[in-house]
Formats: sequence, structure tokens, C-alpha cells
Amino acid sequence: MRQNRAEILGPQEWKEERETRIPPSTVNEPLYQAVDKLLGPKYQPQLVARGGEHLVFELRDQVWPRNVVVKVNFNETLPVYKAYDKGDKVKIEMEKIRLDEKIKSYNRRKAKLKEYFGSSAVPAQLTMVREIPMNPEIAGKLRSAVFTDSRTIKAPAWISVQRRIELDPEKTFSLTGYYLEAISNAIEPELYDKAHSVLSQGDNNGYSPEEELDIALEAMEDLDELPAQMELDPEFKSKLQETARDLIKFEGETGIILDLAGNNNMVLVQEKGGWHLKMPDVLFTDDSIAMHSLKSAAERIRRGEELDFGLALKCYYILNTVRVINALAVISGIPERLRIKELQDIDPETWRKNFKQVRF
Ligand SMILES: Nc1ncnc2c1ncn2[C@@H]1O[C@H](COP(=O)(O)OP(=O)(O)OP(=O)(O)O)[C@@H](O)[C@H]1O
Ligand SMILES: [Mg+2]
Repeated sequence: MRQNRAEILGPQEWKEERETRIPPSTVNEPLYQAVDKLLGPKYQPQLVARGGEHLVFELRDQVWPRNVVVKVNFNETLPVYKAYDKGDKVKIEMEKIRLDEKIKSYNRRKAKLKEYFGSSAVPAQLTMVREIPMNPEIAGKLRSAVFTDSRTIKAPAWISVQRRIELDPEKTFSLTGYYLEAISNAIEPELYDKAHSVLSQGDNNGYSPEEELDIALEAMEDLDELPAQMELDPEFKSKLQETARDLIKFEGETGIILDLAGNNNMVLVQEKGGWHLKMPDVLFTDDSIAMHSLKSAAERIRRGEELDFGLALKCYYILNTVRVINALAVISGIPERLRIKELQDIDPETWRKNFKQVRF
């Protein structure tokens, strides 16, 4: 049977190693151990979800710790494997540095999240680069085309070990919404224009509160179960209002854009009788998806330029975040809105035209 590191080193050395590797913390310790165990054959992770970015595993057959999920971010990891597959040593080193730098930025933004939303909303999480065994089965789940070599290798991956959240569908409401321009969304131009002014510009444009609500619910279908729950449960309503206010403040003050497009990236869950905000996956790994990107896009548009693919994609994400937050404000019935100066004087048609190259 494989020994874990604590057993190999003995108590004293293990204590010293731990202290040099991570800040001692009662929260992080079990998470750290979980990663160590991920590498052992005894703790074969079981795939429980595959989203647009992560493979999410639970560690089955484990004695301890039970309460974590392990996420492999395949978008960030694939370039590393590509470099391995080519045998390009320089590129491999560059990719490792890229991962380290991005994780540092990710952790800085996670600390900001905690500052604004509290530790209970941000699940305890360690994000790190760890070598994981790469076999053809996992490669297939990533994107098999990446590999030309069928050998099993060990290579660095972007891994997060995160506190498991009970996401019982009966007690969970996802506070997320999908890109209005997405091909699967195919919304009428008339609704797009209305939704743009109410949700992107935060301008009611003469619509009554009821009309605003209809526009928000029609545009953001993922949020359409919220009104019934608000009516049923005043505590849910007040938590939703508080969340919308906190999101407006966070975006206005930090300029950090939250990823509110994936199901359950941000949720309200009922636990022990009360409603709690949880943010299991709200941070982009790319920190240039930020308000400043929107500002430079707006400048280019004003100069009559078209956006290149990279900048258009960032704005595609940013506009969705602004719209979801304003939809939450409209639905929860608060007067505050997220108003971004740069979005006030650019018409919806211009965005739609620029997003043609990126929509998915
Ligand atoms: N901490 C957690 N506890 C329990 N389940 C989780 C946790 N984090 C994620 N999951 C499950 O895994 C799914 C995907 O997680 P995550 O959002 O991190 O991945 P993703 O690839 O970004 O997915 P998406 O593209 O849908 O946002 C979630 O919808 C949820 O069901
Ligand atoms: Mg997600």
C-alpha cells in the first residue's frame, strides 16, 4: 500500500514541511492532505461533473477527509499537455510559470471576494499546480485531439481542492445567466435592445417596474424561478436583495469581473433553516477579464474601430456579468443598479455586431 507523505517523513519532518509549504491553517490542512492523497492509487477520484472548464471529482473510498471536491481546470491545463506532447522543454517551463502566475492572481482575487462577501460565501479552496497521472481515459475527457502519444505520463495540472457544498436541487437556486448573444439563445432583436438598456445600461428607459421584471425574466431564463421563491419566503427575498446590493458594490469598487454564466457558479442554498450565498466558481482564471478591458474596448469603438477577437470575447463575458447582476437587482426589487459609464453611450447594435465573431 502506498504511504502518504506524513507517514514517509514522520511527524516532526512532516510538520516542518507543511509549515514551509502553506500557511498553517486549520481550514487548509485537510484540503492539503486531500491533494496529497489524490496522487495515491488508493484514492482514485471519481468524476462527478464536467463543465465548460473543470472536471470535478469526488474522492471516493476515502476515510478522511470526505468533504472536498477536486477540480482539474482543463482549459488551463491543456496548453501544458500540448507542450509535453511536443516535447518542447522551453515551452513546458514557460507554461509552468504561466500557471504559477495565474494562480497567484486568482488567490489575490479570492481574498477580495472574502473581504466583500465573507468567508462563508467563498468555499475554502486551495488552488495549485500538481502533477497528476494522465491516462488516455482522462485525456479523452479533456479533449483527446490534444494527444498524439498514448503513453501515460505525469504532468502539471491546475488543480483546486474545494470544500464540498451540498447542492440539493430542492434547496439550491443558481444566480447565473447565459450570454444573450449565444447561438443557443437566439433572442429577438427587439428583446435584445430592451434587455440591453434595462440590464446592461441599468436604465429603465421609461419601463414600469413590472415591465422591467418581464424583460429581466425573459432575457435571463435561468433566473425565472426566483420570483415564486421570493413570494414564498421573505428570508430568501431579503438574502437575494442583499446579494444584489453586494454584487453592485463589489463590481463598482473592485472592477473584478465575476463569471456568472455557468450553472451553480453562484448559488443561494438553504442550510440549517437559513439562506446562504455560496460562490463555488465565480472567478475567471484570466484576470484581464476586468472592467479596464471594457474601458479600452469602449475607446476603440468610439474611434470607429472593430474589436479584435480577444477583446470582443472579454467584453462578451463582462456584459453578461453586468446583465446578470442588474437582472438580480430588478428581480429582487431593489432600486440600485450597476451602471458602467462606458456602457451608457454605445448602442446594442454595436455590441451585437462585435460579438458575432465570438458567440457560442
Ligand atoms: N464545491 C462544490 N461542491 C459540490 N459540487 C460542486 C462544487 N463545485 C462544483 N460542483 C459541481 O460541479 C459542477 C461544475 O463545477 P464548476 O462550475 O466549478 O465547473 P465549470 O467547468 O466551470 O462548469 P460551468 O461551465 O458549468 O460553470 C457544478 O455545477 C456543481 O454541480
Ligand atoms: Mg463554473
